[in-house]
Amino acid sequence: MAFPKRQLFLCCNENDDGSGCGAFGTDKAAKALKESLKAEGKWGEVRVTRTQCMGQCARGPVGVLYPEGRWIMGESATDQQELRELLLSSDRSGG
Ligand code: FES
Repeated sequence: MAFPKRQLFLCCNENDDGSGCGAFGTDKAAKALKESLKAEGKWGEVRVTRTQCMGQCARGPVGVLYPEGRWIMGESATDQQELRELLLSSDRSGG
């Protein structure tokens, strides 16, 4: 299996007290994004991985896009269309 060109690690952690990035809907966004990428035949070329806490709770919800190492924060981390565009973009500037 080839390495993906891009991989998004999206924090889907939900704490018992209702806090955590997952409380913002990241889990739902990650699952829907994965399904749409599979339907388009893009899964494998790019991937979305749901993670536990990445230690950036105060900035949450958060994700990080590789290979750029670009942090995705706030509403952008739950916007499926924006995440999809980031994963499939040819721009590697990381900006
Ligand atoms: S719960 Fe997402 S970074 Fe901590």
